[in-house]
Amino acid sequence: MKATSLILILLAVIVKVSATCTDANATAGAFIDTGFICYCNAGYYGTSTDSVSGGSCQKCPTGTNSVLATTTGTLVTSCICNDANSALNNGNTACQCKANFFGTPNPTAGGATGCTACPTGTASTAGSTAITSCSCNDTNAALKADNIYCVCKANFYGTPNPTAGGATGCTACPTGTASTAGSTAVTSCSCNDTNATLKADNSACFCKANFYGTPTTFGASGCTACPAGTISADGQTDKSQCTCPDVNASLNSATPPSCQCNANFYGTPTTSGASGCITCPTGTTSAAGSTTKYSCACPDTNASLNFDIPPVCQCNPNFYGIPTTSGASGCTICPLGQTAPAGSVTNVCGAAFTSSTYILSIVSLLFSIVMLI
Ligand SMILES: *[C@@H]1O[C@H](CO)[C@@H](O)[C@H](O)[C@H]1NC(C)=O
Ligand SMILES: *[C@@H]1O[C@H](CO)[C@@H](O)[C@H](O)[C@H]1NC(C)=O
Ligand SMILES: *[C@@H]1O[C@H](CO)[C@@H](O)[C@H](O)[C@H]1NC(C)=O
Ligand SMILES: *[C@@H]1O[C@H](CO)[C@@H](O)[C@H](O)[C@H]1NC(C)=O
Ligand SMILES: *[C@@H]1O[C@H](CO)[C@@H](O)[C@H](O)[C@H]1NC(C)=O
Ligand SMILES: *[C@@H]1O[C@H](CO)[C@@H](O)[C@H](O)[C@H]1NC(C)=O
Repeated sequence: MKATSLILILLAVIVKVSATCTDANATAGAFIDTGFICYCNAGYYGTSTDSVSGGSCQKCPTGTNSVLATTTGTLVTSCICNDANSALNNGNTACQCKANFFGTPNPTAGGATGCTACPTGTASTAGSTAITSCSCNDTNAALKADNIYCVCKANFYGTPNPTAGGATGCTACPTGTASTAGSTAVTSCSCNDTNATLKADNSACFCKANFYGTPTTFGASGCTACPAGTISADGQTDKSQCTCPDVNASLNSATPPSCQCNANFYGTPTTSGASGCITCPTGTTSAAGSTTKYSCACPDTNASLNFDIPPVCQCNPNFYGIPTTSGASGCTICPLGQTAPAGSVTNVCGAAFTSSTYILSIVSLLFSIVMLI
């Protein structure tokens, strides 16, 4: 019994000593009845030539490492990239940065990573080498020029949604407007027509104040400036909506048109402040465009304004009476050959009052006296 045990122990020692692998890159492991199994060393993968004729333990790809195998026939995928932010490429030939990272993996174990995480809210495919491969999770956003964070693309506004697959946080600018990349508010969307502006509800563009028409979305403006000296509110579409700044004036039909005082006013329209158009004296009327008080006509066609302050209607020269405000004239014409001054109320008509008629009158008076005598 004792001798048999001793032989077995001796045998074991001899076998152990001779437990070497033919494959230089394998190490003997478990003992089975046919002998020791040779496992590929750390840093190698495959099947040793000891296990399979023609097999070999191959070196892991550059930048990767494997632990000493515990099974035969390990795959290349047992070789793990030294840079934790990288993984083997599809061909298992080299390490590349993992998805959502970019750069060049550090091949040295224990060193700093060569793969940088993409900025927040962005994603990249495995193997990306530059930050420009990190694309924003919000499809209507793009990395800002400094590549630090995502901003809404040109012609959008808002705050990008960082979560992939979520609703976009970037809203398209209203039709006919454009914005630069990075715009956050709809007010950054400016009308393509430079003479138009966004409506208060931001729904569309309309012509700016002092313009009229329909804005265009490209090319020449569809908004025409109001005629010189006239103004309009935002959103006017027709030239007639361009008005004179003087509330008592309107555009005339001249070419180019200009502002003139309305009918029954006279004066020179102002461009700001108080009206320059003064109401005609009570009971008188004027045509549009009248500039002086005396353009204000009396309703009695045979009367005119006098120069009193305030002026009043009086019968024209060679008429007498009280002017009427309607109907037939209250001014009666002097008999033929007789005259009366303007403003005559009673019949003061007489022969023209010249020095020659004066002398003639005296002469005829004297003649009459002589005749009577
Ligand atoms: C073992 O690996 C080295 C490289 O590390 C290689 O040159 C050699 O050929 C390998 N040996 C065998 C037997 O495959
Ligand atoms: C962006 O999308 C990527 C890929 O889907 C995802 O891994 C990442 O977490 C997303 N970013 C955020 C902030 O949700
Ligand atoms: C407005 O202008 C922007 C920038 O030029 C352009 O991208 C957009 O297509 C224009 N909008 C329309 C409706 O033409
Ligand atoms: C806007 O109006 C001004 C003044 O009428 C004009 O000079 C300019 O050309 C207009 N803008 C465009 C884009 O047509
Ligand atoms: C202009 O007209 C308005 C109403 O027509 C009137 O209230 C205002 O006093 C006028 N201005 C002048 C200076 O006459
Ligand atoms: C004004 O006088 C003329 C000439 O006497 C007369 O023909 C005319 O009818 C008068 N006008 C009115 C409105 O009565």
